[in-house]
Amino acid sequence: LPQPTVFIIGAGGMVGAATASALATREIVHDIALIDINQELAHGQAMDLNHATAYNHGTQVRVGEYADITDQDIVVVTAGLAQRPNGQSRLSLLDANADIMAGIIAQVAPQNPAFIVVVSNPVDILTYLAWRWSGLPRERVFGTGTALDTARLRVELGQALNVAGSQIEAYVLGEHGDTSFAALSPAAIGGVPLAKFPGYTPALTATINDDIRASARRIIDAKKSTYFGIGRVVAQIVAALLQPTGTVLPLSVVVEGEYDLPDVAIGLPALVSQSGIHPLDHYPLNAIETKLLRHSASVLASVIADHTTRAKTPK
Ligand SMILES: NC(=O)c1ccc[n+]([C@@H]2O[C@H](COP(=O)([O-])OP(=O)(O)OC[C@H]3O[C@@H](n4cnc5c(N)ncnc54)[C@H](O)[C@@H]3O)[C@@H](O)[C@H]2O)c1
Repeated sequence: LPQPTVFIIGAGGMVGAATASALATREIVHDIALIDINQELAHGQAMDLNHATAYNHGTQVRVGEYADITDQDIVVVTAGLAQRPNGQSRLSLLDANADIMAGIIAQVAPQNPAFIVVVSNPVDILTYLAWRWSGLPRERVFGTGTALDTARLRVELGQALNVAGSQIEAYVLGEHGDTSFAALSPAAIGGVPLAKFPGYTPALTATINDDIRASARRIIDAKKSTYFGIGRVVAQIVAALLQPTGTVLPLSVVVEGEYDLPDVAIGLPALVSQSGIHPLDHYPLNAIETKLLRHSASVLASVIADHTTRAKTPK
């Protein structure tokens, strides 16, 4: 059977390289191709990462080209500016990163890849634009959304309750940004509602939304960028895309009427498999969480509308 290649665009950077590292060391795919506008950086990363495959069974990391992408392949886009220390928001990256994304999609879409996974920020807006520009169905173009925020939630709860993160059924949903929220009312561990789980106290989650949002900021202030967490999350998503059976992950999905939301891409629980991404429409959010999701979507919708108007205005 032909094996897909994972093309990482922006792979000279921290997030792209961490993604390649997670994919290579976990042997999730056998062929990883790096593309970056800075070709020297891409070559350096490919050489270094290739050396990390010495104890694998036939994995290679190499420099790739857009022309090599086939309809079997998975394209992960990490290209673009990242937030700088001192409080810059993800949305402020939009104009620069949308231009970069437009150039990349113009080269990727004609190759008709199996999937395009958007990681660059602001991830929900760029996912929506990438989907629209690519002309591909929403099952094949999506973003990492709140998958990283959810990983942070699982780690915090898992460590506090002494339970494996993989056992925790709980998602952060909405925008990967200032209006994200942990949907705790349906959260459970082994089927037991989170609120009834041994060791749980309301104090544990009283500031969880702020803590999760602040963790990105704290990492950026301390070491300039965040990458190991998101690299591992992208590897998990790629692994799910290779399976015939579904895995539920919170991803930025283009909405087609789910939860009565407007036309945006936003973090929702989605079933992920070889046949693509399918958002789950009946996640049992309570009234407050439903309101938070609508608010988050309305913020994203106004950013998309504003960006579309500005893009149409001659400079
Ligand atoms: N979705 C998430 O949860 C999440 C988490 C962390 C970071 N990010 C985002 O990922 C992006 C990358 O972050 P980083 O820390 O790796 O930044 P970085 O500056 O280290 O890397 C970005 C790379 O993109 C390359 N690039 C720029 N324009 C390009 C183009 N047109 N074609 C190909 N490559 C191009 C640059 O040369 C650079 O190597 C940022 O937008 C950041 O905000 C997202």
